[in-house]
Amino acid sequence: MSFPKNFIWGTASAAYQIEGAYNEDGKGLSIWDFYSHEKGKILHNETGDVACDHIHRYKEDVQLMKQLGLRAFRFSISWSRIYPNGPEEVCEAGLAYYEDMIDRLLAEGIEPFFDLWHCDLPYWVMERGAVLSPEFVEWFRVYARTVFTRLGRKVKYWCTINEPSINIMASYAYGANAPFHENFDEAILACHNGILAHYAAVQEFKKLNLPGQITSVIHMEPVYAWTIDPKDQEAADRKQAFYTGWWLDPMLKGHYPEILKDYPYIMDKLPENYQKDLEENFVPMDFIGINYYSPGYARYKDDGELYYETIHNTALPRDDYGFFFYPEGLFDMGIYLKQTYPGKDIFITENGFGKKKWGNLDEELEDDYRIDVIREHLRSMSRAIQAGVPYKGYFHWTIMDTNELYAGGYNYMFGLTQINYETLERRPRKSWYYYQKV
Ligand code: NOJ
Repeated sequence: MSFPKNFIWGTASAAYQIEGAYNEDGKGLSIWDFYSHEKGKILHNETGDVACDHIHRYKEDVQLMKQLGLRAFRFSISWSRIYPNGPEEVCEAGLAYYEDMIDRLLAEGIEPFFDLWHCDLPYWVMERGAVLSPEFVEWFRVYARTVFTRLGRKVKYWCTINEPSINIMASYAYGANAPFHENFDEAILACHNGILAHYAAVQEFKKLNLPGQITSVIHMEPVYAWTIDPKDQEAADRKQAFYTGWWLDPMLKGHYPEILKDYPYIMDKLPENYQKDLEENFVPMDFIGINYYSPGYARYKDDGELYYETIHNTALPRDDYGFFFYPEGLFDMGIYLKQTYPGKDIFITENGFGKKKWGNLDEELEDDYRIDVIREHLRSMSRAIQAGVPYKGYFHWTIMDTNELYAGGYNYMFGLTQINYETLERRPRKSWYYYQKV
């Protein structure tokens, strides 16, 4: 396999998952800090209070990244470190911390790729109505403007919202994540607000005339029809539109997917003036960021709602976390994205494989399975590039074991580096050396 010379090799991670220091230096609580202290919400009641202690060890971690040969590090800013109690008062210590981290990355030739919102909404936002509040868009705008004004000249790649389909949709409709709501009607409204908040951040970014580029990172499954029945193909197209197009269409084209407009189950739940909202606020984002873990399958279902059901293709190998291994998906997805949203560069902003910890730290360093996962996905990407897909970078999830979001706690190993959670020692795994060579 081969890759262009300027291809960006990175890893991804997120604030809540590795930082720790959850109440230090003026930081406010996030919704994950709040829920993880409530019994029964997170597996084994594990919290992010210490996590990987990255806040106290980021200098050491940047050195680890340097040794790994990273060209870019994707990370998120914790909104509650910047605005701990409300949109009125900014916390200087939070801004200073991220600025120092960015400076250290740049000094080692590592491009920072920063996300504004990776699931950890401030607790005050939740108390005031969260994403459903009519003020949400303005809170996000204020936060984005502050961050861009201070850090925008140093960071080339920005992301507004990580995985809104999970961060917003699944968290409001299916209770998958904090704030654990289960209300589909509410979820559609929250999603619409999420898109407007994304627009607001892109508007601020453009107003400041910054040198970088901006996106929202979308969790994508290339969706396949379960059988050759044309009805199943239609179901697959609809699932693709609802899961991915729901975000990428408004973010790149300024409207919701055409194919969904005849589905009242979704469209009737949008606010009356939704089209005007989009038309008046739309600013296209600059590139596409995709998190790819698993493919999706759909079959027609006459349910009067979404008219499809999701099927799990259990013939595929699966990791302990639940992701199905299908590297070819990266090829198909690249072709689909190139055809549907022409002219936009695409970054794979996450891809990885979760294994359950089995408790023997030495043995857990031998992660040949992760090497296979990386190699096969890169092969597929390289093939896609040869077929003309504008893939510009790959970020492996993740640099070190983390506090897995989505209520998984510290039970899964996704890291190129192992964390000993008792001593916080970092030890590179076999896959670390493989990725270093790549
Ligand atoms: C996607 C999310 O962005 C990240 O937070 C999570 O840990 C990984 N997937 C693995 O589930």
